[in-house]
Amino acid sequence: MSEIKLSNITKLYGSQLAVPGLDLEIPKGSFVTLLGPSGCGKTTTLRMIAGLEQPSSGEVSLAGKPVYSSTTGMFVAPERRGLGFIFQSYALWPNMKVDRNITLALTEAKLPALTVKARLQEALEKVQLTGLEGRYPSELSGGQQQRVAVARLIAARNSILLMDEPLSNLDAKLRTEMRTELKRLHRELGATTVYVTHDQVEALTMSDIIVVMKDGIIQQQGNPYEIYHNPANLFVAEFIGDPKINLFSGVVKRVGGEARLSLCGTELPLPAGMNLSEGPVTVGVRPENIAIHDRPTGAGIAAEVDVVQPTGSQTIISLLLKGQRITVLIPRFENSLPKKNVWIELSFDHINFFDPAGRRIETAQVRQPASHAA
Ligand SMILES: Nc1ncnc2c1ncn2[C@@H]1O[C@H](COP(=O)(O)OP(=O)(O)OP(=O)(O)O)[C@@H](O)[C@H]1O
Ligand SMILES: [Mg+2]
Repeated sequence: MSEIKLSNITKLYGSQLAVPGLDLEIPKGSFVTLLGPSGCGKTTTLRMIAGLEQPSSGEVSLAGKPVYSSTTGMFVAPERRGLGFIFQSYALWPNMKVDRNITLALTEAKLPALTVKARLQEALEKVQLTGLEGRYPSELSGGQQQRVAVARLIAARNSILLMDEPLSNLDAKLRTEMRTELKRLHRELGATTVYVTHDQVEALTMSDIIVVMKDGIIQQQGNPYEIYHNPANLFVAEFIGDPKINLFSGVVKRVGGEARLSLCGTELPLPAGMNLSEGPVTVGVRPENIAIHDRPTGAGIAAEVDVVQPTGSQTIISLLLKGQRITVLIPRFENSLPKKNVWIELSFDHINFFDPAGRRIETAQVRQPASHAA
């Protein structure tokens, strides 16, 4: 059963339609991430689930019970929805020390003092703030304040957790650590989690389901594998992936029953069984699915190496291919490549084809892990 259900939810701010009619079902116990660019309606959607924002129309239910309905006029106040949340502004009580900020809800719920103490210690340890419990929020850095908000969530143990960019103020190392901690927390608590971010790495690493939004509209909903490898449209394809997906204009032709792809002045045979009709397509190839050769190969396309950027375990290579800049990612450290003139080959392991309207129409996919098979 869905733990959270939004049916045809709209949100108007004055005359601006921030959310034009959203349907979303979140299964119990899942970690669902709302992902999208700034202003796409992630926070608004989360606040409507929490009850901090009243939708303009539609219905919201939690655990099968309606908490908002524009037809009946029902609206359950946020504090009666049994949720734990962290919002972009993490709203700590400035007049309370860290320990009280973390345990306020527990003491108000009249939990035994020993339980409260144990939960406080555990939460402080998880966010690495042990020793700072006697400080006021104003005596902490932004990142530390954010971790107090996460600790409060850990201590409360609600069955639904809503988080809006809870790691945005942390430095890169701490963010990676906290990502692991939040994922573990989700697993331990078994709580249904809705997580908002515009950081695709957070979305890919933590989620069971990613919901990609643009202008208040869901573009695609799927597991991280589907979102990354089978993006529903060009928006999702370009939003996910760093370095970005390479896009080529191509034309599909059929010659004597065989499908061929004309691209960058070359013709490549397409794998058999692909359901593509003749005509223009946009071809999307992720940087790791392009090979670089130092001599011409059958399906190779001539290109020129421009910039080589090692990042440690990988190297990003920027090339010029008939005036178009493309990016290739290789899984090793390279300071430079021996030759400037190279030949690139697209791996038909994973190539997406999009129609002129930007919708994905086909994916060439040779290998697919069994767990992700449709
Ligand atoms: N209180 C408000 N009054 C008027 N417009 C608002 C209000 N809150 C949000 N909006 C508008 O609604 C749209 C969605 O905003 P929202 O805060 O949900 O975006 P977001 O996806 O969370 O973005 P970000 O990643 O920047 O936090 C934006 O165009 C925003 O300007
Ligand atoms: Mg936001």
